[in-house]
Amino acid sequence: MTSLGPPDDTGRSLDPHLRRYAARAAGMTASEVRALFSVASRPEVVSLAGGMPNLTALPLDSLSTEIAGLVSGEGLVALQYGSAHGLPELRDQICEVMGLEEVHGHPDDVVVTVGSQMALDMVTRIFCDPGDVVLAEGPSYVGALGTFAAYQADVVHVGMDADGLVPDALREALAACERAGRRVKFLYTIPNFQNPAGVTLAVPRRAEILEICAAHRVLVVEDNPYGLLGFDGQTYPALRSMDADNVVYLGSFSKTFAAGLRVGWALAPHAVREKLMLAAESATLCPPTLNQMIVSRYLATHDWKGQIKSFQQTYRERRDAMLAALEQHFPPGCTWTVPAGGFFVWVTVPEGVDTKAMLPRAVTARVAYVSGTGFYADGLGSRQMRLSFCYPTPERITEGVRRLAAVLSDELDLARTFGPTSQRIGSGPQVPAPDTA
Ligand SMILES: Cc1ncc(COP(=O)(O)O)c(C=O)c1O
Repeated sequence: MTSLGPPDDTGRSLDPHLRRYAARAAGMTASEVRALFSVASRPEVVSLAGGMPNLTALPLDSLSTEIAGLVSGEGLVALQYGSAHGLPELRDQICEVMGLEEVHGHPDDVVVTVGSQMALDMVTRIFCDPGDVVLAEGPSYVGALGTFAAYQADVVHVGMDADGLVPDALREALAACERAGRRVKFLYTIPNFQNPAGVTLAVPRRAEILEICAAHRVLVVEDNPYGLLGFDGQTYPALRSMDADNVVYLGSFSKTFAAGLRVGWALAPHAVREKLMLAAESATLCPPTLNQMIVSRYLATHDWKGQIKSFQQTYRERRDAMLAALEQHFPPGCTWTVPAGGFFVWVTVPEGVDTKAMLPRAVTARVAYVSGTGFYADGLGSRQMRLSFCYPTPERITEGVRRLAAVLSDELDLARTFGPTSQRIGSGPQVPAPDTA
C-alpha cells in the first residue's frame, strides 16, 4: 500500500489519511497547553500551566439533590432534544447575569452554546473566509487562536499595555491591513482580566476602541468569561453595553459555576442572531437540555452571587500568593503583570532566556507553565510565560514559583556563560518521559 503521510524513523507513514484532509485541517495543531497537559497533571508537578477553575467551594451536596430532582421530576424534558436557541428561562437568567456588567440584552438575542468556545467557533464560521484577518490582542487566548487557524483566518496582533489594548496600535493595525488590501472581519478582545496577560482594558479606552472599529466597519467580538471575577468585586461596563449593534458578546458559566457543564452563550446584534443559531444548529442541533436546566436551577435556587464572591476571595488569595512568591524568589530583571481579577499572571524574563526551550528543564524540576509563544500566532512570546494561580493551593503556588525561580536563575547563568538559550536548543535535555517527570 502507498504510504501517504510523512515517514517515521522506520520509513512507515505516521498518518495514512494525511492527503485526504481538507486544507483547513492543516491549521489544526495541538496547542502548547494541551501538549503539556499529561505531564503537568502528574501530582509531583506543580502546574502553573492550566486554566482549570477551582471547584472545591461548590455546594456539591445540594447540587446533586437538585440534579437528581431534575431527572426524576422533569426527566422527560431534561433528557430530550431542545431548541438551538437554548431554554427560554435560562436565556432570561443570562440577561440578569449580564446586567451585572451593564449589558441590557433581550433574551431573544441570546444563543446558548456549548461553552463560549463553541460561540467563538460559530462566530468565526459565519464571518471568516480563508485569508480574512482577525485582529486580536497580542498575546491572546490560545483556544481562540486555534479556532481562527481552523477557519484559515489570519491573526494580526494588536499591542497591549497595563491598561489593555492600545487604541493607537489598533488604528495602526487597521491602517496597515487596509494598505495591504486585507479584509479585516472582526476585533477579538478579552477586555477583563485577559487570558493570558491578566490586564484589564481601561474604561476610558472602551468607547475609543468601539469608535475606531465602527469607523473602520469592523465588528467587535467581546469575550468575557472572567468579568465577574474581580478581586474587589469590581466590574466594568462591557463593550456590548456601549454598542449593541456592533458587538457580539460571549459569556460563560465555566468560571463562575461549573466548566464541565459546558454552558456558555453569545449575545449577538439582532441581525446576526439568526445566522449564529443556524451555525449552532448545524454543529450540535441544540445545547444539552439537562445541563442548561442544571444551570438554570442553580441560578434560581442558590446564592450564586455569594458563590462568585467566594470564588473572588479564593482567587485573590492565590493571586497574592503568586505575586508574593514572584517578588521573593524571581531573579532581578523579570517583570510581571498584577491582575485585578481572573486567573493569570504574565511574566517577562530577561534577554537570553527562551521560555519554550526552558520548559523541559522546568518540568524536570517539577513545575510547569505555558511558554508565551503559545499565545501568539506569529511566533512572538519567547521571553514570556503565563503562570496560572487558579488551581493550585497558595502553598503549592509558592513552592511552584520557588522551583521555577531556581530553574530560571540557572538558565540566566547559562545564558551569561554560553549565550542565549535559543542558540542552545537541541543540545539541552528533552521533555522528560512521564515516569521521570
Ligand atoms: C478567554 C477565554 N475565552 C473562552 C474560553 C472558553 O470557555 P468555555 O469553557 O466557556 O468554553 C476560555 C477558557 O479558558 C477563555 O479563557
